[in-house]
Amino acid sequence: MKVLITGATSGIGRQLVADYLTAGDTVIACGRNPEKLAALVAELGTHGCEQRLTTLSFDVTNHAATINALQPVTEVDCAILNAGVCEYIDQPSDITGALFKRVFDANYFGVVHCIEGLLPQLKPGSRLVLVDSMARLFPFTRAEAYASSKAAVHYLSNTLKIDLAPQGIQVTSVSPGFVKTPLTDVNDFEMPMRVSVHEASRAIRSGIAKGKQQIYFPRLFGWVLRMLNKLPLAWQITLSKRMKKDT
Ligand SMILES: NC(=O)c1ccc[n+]([C@@H]2O[C@H](COP(=O)([O-])OP(=O)(O)OC[C@H]3O[C@@H](n4cnc5c(N)ncnc54)[C@H](OP(=O)(O)O)[C@@H]3O)[C@@H](O)[C@H]2O)c1
Repeated sequence: MKVLITGATSGIGRQLVADYLTAGDTVIACGRNPEKLAALVAELGTHGCEQRLTTLSFDVTNHAATINALQPVTEVDCAILNAGVCEYIDQPSDITGALFKRVFDANYFGVVHCIEGLLPQLKPGSRLVLVDSMARLFPFTRAEAYASSKAAVHYLSNTLKIDLAPQGIQVTSVSPGFVKTPLTDVNDFEMPMRVSVHEASRAIRSGIAKGKQQIYFPRLFGWVLRMLNKLPLAWQITLSKRMKKDT
């Protein structure tokens, strides 16, 4: 299988690159930092993997750069659009267009740019995988920008599941709970049921192999959040306020 992975230089994306290579797959690792991509190749592109690992360097927020970089890509079986950033709203003065734009540029428009660049190259039977977050399921305080960008990505995947079906392109959405990566290492709050990148990669790869439309992990956390999501909004808000007071 030929797999393209964005956000390949760190955390979940990096582990996916390592695991797909180990499984014998061909990987196109995408990142915005050429030095980090070179380090990735030095570490993972050895022991017979040399021919199966290539890299593409582009910033997903840059429309033209993304389209140009993806244009020569051919015959991708699976594209995992995983690149993303997180910024929290620590105080009301953080609610600025600039902050929301930074987050949406990377998390939402980055995904849209990649889809635009990849669609002409995707053949019937190939799969698009969009990484959102379980944060979209509950009104977590401070997560206004991050979780709304991920809710937008989730909506996008659900509609693409319908609109790309006639082309034979399947779409999977991935909603992780907390995963130990540089993105969460900076968090100053408790992260229940946080899993390792190994567990995250296993859950994503297994869900993709089974052709799932929707992947949640860890399972129990996903179940709890989906239950919370079904509560009346007033209860969700009361609960979230209580969580805020306890931190
Ligand atoms: N960790 C969690 O608990 C968690 C939970 C739910 C969802 N997620 C989602 O999972 C995905 C991966 O997160 P992670 O935890 O593995 O984070 P990470 O370790 O910070 O990795 C993020 C990756 O995205 C890349 N990236 C960021 N902005 C980019 C841009 N403008 N252009 C190109 N690449 C860009 C980063 O590149 P650099 O290396 O150059 O920074 C890095 O490779 C994200 O979409 C995140 O929102 C994570």
